[in-house]
Parts: sequence; C-alpha cells; structure tokens
Amino acid sequence: MGIEKCKIIELPKITDARGNLTFIEGNKHIPFEIKRIYYLYDVPGGESRGGHAHRKLQQLIIAASGSFDVILDDGFERKRFYLNRSYYGLYVSPMIWRELDNFSSGSVCLVLASELYNENDYIRDYETFKKQLKINQEIKKEELDNGKK
Ligand code: TYD
Repeated sequence: MGIEKCKIIELPKITDARGNLTFIEGNKHIPFEIKRIYYLYDVPGGESRGGHAHRKLQQLIIAASGSFDVILDDGFERKRFYLNRSYYGLYVSPMIWRELDNFSSGSVCLVLASELYNENDYIRDYETFKKQLKINQEIKKEELDNGKK
C-alpha cells in the first residue's frame, strides 16, 4: 500500500583519488523536480527525528555523512532502511509515515524535497495518518467505480 514505491536509489558517483563526487538532477536521477533542500546535523546521540507523514511531498533522504536508520510505514507495513553511503538515496513517496533514528555522531541527513515548506502538508498524528489513508482509499475506489459506469 505505498511502501513498495519507496526505494534506495543508487546515485552517480565519480570516483577520484582527490575525493569522490556525487550529483543529482531533478526528474533524471530522482522522480521529481527539486524545490527545497534541508539537512539535519548535530543530532545528539539517542535522538530521533521525523514522526510524521506528508500528504503530497516526495523526498530523497541521503546520509551525506555518517549513518542513520529511516523507518517507513504505509499503515500496513513497516520497513527499516540503514543509510550509510553518500551515493545512496532513499526515495519516500507521499503518505508514508517516517521516523529517523540511530544517528552516528557527526552524521548529516540531507533531504531533497519536491515542494516548498508547507505545514499543512504534514500529518503529525499517527491515528490521523491512518484515517487519512482510509479516506484516500475510499476516494480512489469511488473514482474507479465512476470510471466503470
Ligand atoms: P520537522 O519537519 O518537524 O522536523 P523533523 O521531521 O526532522 O523532526 O521540522 C522541524 C521544524 O523546522 C518545524 O518547526 C518546521 C521547521 N522547518 C522549516 O521551517 N522549513 C523546512 O523546510 C523544514 C523541513 C522544517
């Protein structure tokens, strides 16, 4: 129910004795135009971030430095991804509950986002998330039924 769309994307990597380089182009290496970038850093040991879903937002999450875990949940299935390479990104589709934990010291979590910041796009309560999933399913079913008529 959505989590199957969330995948690790291997990004281009230019290996060089002087230091490696990775680049990302919107709509080419990832399935959306990049409208915003933000990053998490100086995360104290044992802290977790996230704990919400987005109605429309698509994201690519990268461990630009160090490592951390991303737990994704589509209301039916929960999956834990371990990110520890600068050339791997985790694509997160809309309507996925996410939590980030297990940050290594000095890690940097870089996020590319498909939309500008909009608090109305957040669902910050898990029960509300589950209810919204149900509503979306009903709307989809109605649209399919109407299409058949
Ligand atoms: P939030 O997305 O809740 O953090 P996380 O999911 O990583 O725990 O954002 C924390 C605060 O930062 C919140 O008050 C909103 C603000 N914020 C912005 O103003 N712009 C942004 O692009 C982001 C991601 C957050």
